[in-house]
Formats: sequence, C-alpha cells, structure tokens
Amino acid sequence: LVLILDYGSQYTHLITRRIRSLSVFSLCISGTSPLKSITDLNPRVVILSGGPHSVHTLDSPSFPAGFTEWAEANGVFVLGVCYGLQLIVQRLGGVVKVGEKQEYGRMEIEVERNSGIFGSKKIGDKQVVWMSHGDEVAKLPEGFEVVARSQQGSVAAIESPVRRFYGLQYHPEVTHSPEGMETLRYFLFDICQVSAGWSMENVLDEEIKVIKSTVGTEDHVICALSGGVDSTVAATLVHKAIGGRLHCIFVDNGLLRFKERERVMETFEKDLHLPVTCVDATEQFLSKLKGVVDPETKRKIIGKEFICIFDAFAHDLEKKLGKRPTYLVQGTLYPDVIESCPPPGSGRTHSHTIKSHHNVGGLPKDMKLKLIEPLKLLFKDEVRELGRILDVPQGFLKRHPFPGPGLAVRVLGDVTQGNALDILRQVDEIFIQSIKDAGLYDTIWQAFAVFLPVRSVGVQGDQRTHSHVVALRAVTSQDGMTADWYYFEHKFLDDVSRKICNSVRGVNRIVQDITSKPPSTIEWE
Ligand code: XMP
Repeated sequence: LVLILDYGSQYTHLITRRIRSLSVFSLCISGTSPLKSITDLNPRVVILSGGPHSVHTLDSPSFPAGFTEWAEANGVFVLGVCYGLQLIVQRLGGVVKVGEKQEYGRMEIEVERNSGIFGSKKIGDKQVVWMSHGDEVAKLPEGFEVVARSQQGSVAAIESPVRRFYGLQYHPEVTHSPEGMETLRYFLFDICQVSAGWSMENVLDEEIKVIKSTVGTEDHVICALSGGVDSTVAATLVHKAIGGRLHCIFVDNGLLRFKERERVMETFEKDLHLPVTCVDATEQFLSKLKGVVDPETKRKIIGKEFICIFDAFAHDLEKKLGKRPTYLVQGTLYPDVIESCPPPGSGRTHSHTIKSHHNVGGLPKDMKLKLIEPLKLLFKDEVRELGRILDVPQGFLKRHPFPGPGLAVRVLGDVTQGNALDILRQVDEIFIQSIKDAGLYDTIWQAFAVFLPVRSVGVQGDQRTHSHVVALRAVTSQDGMTADWYYFEHKFLDDVSRKICNSVRGVNRIVQDITSKPPSTIEWE
C-alpha cells in the first residue's frame, strides 16, 4: 500500500490516481490523522502531499508525533511533495525560510546524476517541472543531500537514502512535469521495491469475497437503482456475490428523460439479469410537486418521497421473505468519501453546501440497515472499468451524469406547469441524439436541455406564436466541481435549433448557455 497524507493540495487525488495507474494500490487520508490510523494501514510508502500552507503559520497541518520514528524503525519510505518536502525538512531538524523569490508554474531544474530518486536512465539532467511554492529550504536535516536545484538556485529535490526520506519541491503528478511520472515509477518500483498487483480484476475478486463473508448465507440485501453508472455497477457486483438475495428497486418518479424507464429496465433485465422491481410513482411525485417553485423545496420533497417508496418496498419484502432485509447497497465513490471530510484549511468545500444533492433512495432513519458500499475506494473511471469487466454495456457506462431530482431541476419553476416535462423530454432527446450522431457524446461531460418558464413571440407558418423558450447546456469537466461550456460548431447548433423548432410543438426559441462553473452551476436549479 502507498498511503498519501493529504495536506490540501488540489493535486492530492491526482497522486492517488497516478499511483493506481501504475497498478499499485494507494489510499489517501487526512494529513493530520493520528499515528494509529497510519500504522494500522501498514503502508510500505507514505507520500506527504502538497498544500496551500506555510510551515511557519500557526496551526499549519503536519504529520503526528512519532511518525518519523515509526517510519525509520519499520523501513517505510517517505516522499514529500512541495509542502510535504518542507514538512520533512522542518520536522527532521532542518530550516525552511520564507523564499526571496517565489516559484510558480513551469521551471527548469538540474538534477544530480548519481542521486537515488533520479536514478532512472529515462530521466534527463535537466527537467521541466511544475512548481508552486513560496517558502524554501535553507538548511537540510542530518543525513540529507540536495539532489536537484531550480534555475534560480533554490532546492528542488532532497533525499536521505539511509533514512529512506525523499522530497520533491515540485509536483511530479501533473502532466506539466513531463518526467514526473517516470520519477514516481522509478521511486516506487526501483527504490521502494513495491510490487504492482492492483487491478480491477483483483478488486472484483476481493469485493466478492468481502460481500459474501459480510452477508453470509441467510441475509437479504436491498438496493435502489437510479439508472446511473454507480448504483448499477454496485448492484451488479453484489448480485454476482449473493445472487437472488439482492432485491433492487427502480422508481419512475415522472421526472425521467425520454423513454428512460424502458431503456434502463431493458439493461437491468436483459443485459444484467438484475432482480428489479419497477415502481411507477409518477402521480405520487408530481402531485407533491404541484405549485412548488423553490429548487431546494423540490429536492426535499423528492428525497422524502423516495424514502417513503423505499420504506414500503422494504416492508413488502419483509412480509414476503418472513424476515427484514439486513443490508443496503450504495454506490458511494471514493471522491464522495474524501470530499465529505476535507482536510483543515484545504479550502476545499463540498458541493453539498451549494445544493443539497441527495442520493436516490437515501436512508430511512428507522430501517436500521447496514451499509454495503463496494465502490467506496474507487474513482469514477475505475468504476467504469469494473463495470466493463462485469459486462455492463459500454453505452450504459458512458452515460452522462443525471441528477437524482431528475428533470425537476431542469424545468425552472413549477414542474407541473402545462406540458413542460413533455416538451423538455422531446427537446432533450433531439439534442442528445444530435450530439451522439456528431460523435461528440464522449467528449462532453454532460449535456441537457432546460425548460424556461417564459414565453417569447415568434412566427411559424405565417402565424404569430407565443411559445416556450428552451436552453441548451453542454459542459466539459473533470469531476463536476468546475466546468466549462462546450464550444459547438455553428452548423451543429443551427441544425439542432432547426430540428427542435420544427418538431417540438410549443417551442419557438432556443438559446445556449455559455457560462462556466463558476460562476454558474452545471444545473440551472
Ligand atoms: P451543479 O449543478 O451543482 O452540479 O454544478 C454538479 C453535478 O451534480 C449533479 N447534480 C445533482 N446530482 N442530486 C444529484 O444526485 C442533485 O440534487 C444534483 N444537483 C446537481 C449535476 O447534474 C452535475 O453532474
């Protein structure tokens, strides 16, 4: 295991991912975790991440007392990156001073040929790296050497092979440090002698074993399928482990996209053979949403209705099986786990503070179900890979994210106004199909239409119309936290706009959303 101690750098998760891409299992925990949390994981390598702090400020985060002694006594290798390097220097008895010149962005560094960390033959004497630091090393701790300097003469890398401590004053994990990946690879395999064995096939075998031993041979498990990738992969995995003792529910809340219920049910039943109960709760949801315009109130109503339906499902099962289901499967991913407890001072906040996102089928308080979260150590692309091994169809795995409250947050205002939902479904379908036909679907993070609660004047077939305006939104993003609007070619937009106005009755104007996130959010509500 390679353990990353997070001090709040925006690149910390990238380190975790880069290491996993070398087929080495890595985990990231808060940099201020107690010593026991670190030693219990028994890592062979610990990487101290970068961060926005200065070691000089009061309360700047650091590793726990006893960490260096434990590492040295147990043959653990430690690599500090940026702030992590400065922590090593300061805590092991060296001096870090406020730099005279700050170094941000692309920098050239010169490396010592005979150093340990730069031992790879594939690495040149001069390297371009990505730096981001204000403080610099003034005096090294005992047993350390400088093994690279920047053009400006500041310390760019240090090491003490005897003590097994290494430090890089730049970010090897970013693509702007072209030789960073080779440096990490060499460090892990040649210096630390870790072995590569982490693969999705292994994860699958391990997870199946864990689920089987957790659930045993008697207990039953329930799962709410949202139609999204995460819950589908989680359910498929659990189904492989325990078969018919998994019971899934899919709720049509009347807020789904064009033919979505039919499409996802076909995948669940025909491709994945999942045992799914489909509940049509359109009336139940829409009657509760009638007249509601506030987005957060809509979300709360939808969340509450889901829980009622889910609760009823569990009670029905209890009657049928003669015993309560014991476990609930959730498709929680690793970023959800990390982001729900950001390290102190990281400046990272979770989008929960902006919109109360909820997972479909949130946990009813009195159900006392125990959680099974088989994806909670995985990133989205790893979940897709796992899905591929589990034979979840590619088209399904690549689907754009869709919010739990569905079209309710894409019809601005009252979702039951006129035939807004119907219009929105038709427009959305044309837009998405056009994107697919143009081969753009996989390069776009998310695309959808938004129904605006305004009418505009138009002229169609020599008649004056007073019809609806619909907005098109398409964004690129890495993780949905920030996003940029997608630059379609004019011809594409022209074709889509024409197609929509010609085939969707009640629409006479199309606009495109050209804002990034921030300042906007991806969804309009
Ligand atoms: P925003 O609009 O906050 O969206 O920029 C970021 C990502 O989250 C999705 N989203 C939601 N997902 N329940 C969800 O399950 C919600 O209430 C919700 N609101 C937004 C959004 O589609 C995008 O992928």
